Amino acid sequence: MPTSPAHEAIHRCRVLAGFSEEPGFTTRTFLSAPMRDVHAYLTAWMTDLGMTFRVDAAGNLRGLYSGSSPAAPRLFIGSHLDTVIRAGAFDGILGVVFGLALLGTVRGKRFPFAIEVVGFSDEEGVRFGVPFIGSRALAGTIDAALLATRDASGRSVTDAIRDYGLDPERIMEEAAATTAMGYLEVHIEQGPVLETLGASLGVVDAIVGQTRVEAAFTGAVGHAGTTPMAARRDALAGAAEWIGAVEREALATPGLVATVGRIDARPGASNVIAGVCTATLDLRQADDADRTAAVARMALYARRIAERRGLDLSWTPRLDQPAVAMDRTLVGTLERALDRAGAPVHHLASGAGHDAMIVATRMPAAMLFLRSPGGISHHPDESVLEEDVALALEVGRHFLDEIARSAS
Ligand code: GLV
Ligand code: MN
Ligand code: MN
Repeated sequence: MPTSPAHEAIHRCRVLAGFSEEPGFTTRTFLSAPMRDVHAYLTAWMTDLGMTFRVDAAGNLRGLYSGSSPAAPRLFIGSHLDTVIRAGAFDGILGVVFGLALLGTVRGKRFPFAIEVVGFSDEEGVRFGVPFIGSRALAGTIDAALLATRDASGRSVTDAIRDYGLDPERIMEEAAATTAMGYLEVHIEQGPVLETLGASLGVVDAIVGQTRVEAAFTGAVGHAGTTPMAARRDALAGAAEWIGAVEREALATPGLVATVGRIDARPGASNVIAGVCTATLDLRQADDADRTAAVARMALYARRIAERRGLDLSWTPRLDQPAVAMDRTLVGTLERALDRAGAPVHHLASGAGHDAMIVATRMPAAMLFLRSPGGISHHPDESVLEEDVALALEVGRHFLDEIARSAS
């Protein structure tokens, strides 16, 4: 049996990791069947904590712990409940479990503000190639193009919401009130910085911007045995040449990271020359102007390669998310909470995207990182240390007290 709130939080993250689309791994995309199990598990816990809850029209789980008065303003704590393919147990999930574990430790105490714990439906963007569906609903920035985006089976975001039994027509009503006090996201670092410093926790200053693009090369399907090499318009070979160029460019550009994480070649047989090859690009850089320039270079390489090989190219931007600074005042509150918990204050930037960068357009946002052993994330070996979770919970309690002090 779990012996401490931190131990219990880790245990619960591991239980949630079992709710998956793929046996033996943790894979949970936007509003997939196992998300219902996640919602059922977390709402049972919310009930024990005396919270009310609902699943909103974007599939976000929203649990409310009321404040000392019905008119109390609202503080949001949360992260995402979806995962990458074959994920670890903590990316996103820990931030939601943290919110509930924190409420478990305050033992019924009420604050001069309500606390809404949010489990976002999609941050990773695996199903639709577009991330942040959940947090964009809370921020009030969902648009028609996002709702019309289709997954690999041809279902749109709107269809997926209906399939889950929710009403997509209501999605614009789900934005948080503009009077919201702020948003705290607790997340594993997913990199090596804190571990290298020997630090448990870090305060995020800013989240770097990211671009996602889908590049489709179209050539001609042909017989692998009879079509002379010089007569081919091989879409997969063109995409492969471009992928090499993307990697070379990123290696040669300090601070640039670029990833082609998925390719899809059609018709997809070993003895057929591919007629269409689609490749995703994920590109990140701290400075937005540098990032935009890097994307333009990647597009230029794709055009040149396509032209030389007689291929058509379609270049579909899926995301152009600028870098986002965290709110200075809320970061200051977090720093004081760390101080009061006796923890050193380390600052760092996040190379990973987070719901906080979307929520920050609506309300003040801050993030607390927990060290990632081995820097491992987006992998089943992802882990977290119990002592770090315990310290984060202590910081969380001081954070609530600090907010209460500033609100009264
Ligand atoms: C989210 O995990 C990201 O891709 O940064
Ligand atoms: Mn992730
Ligand atoms: Mn995450």
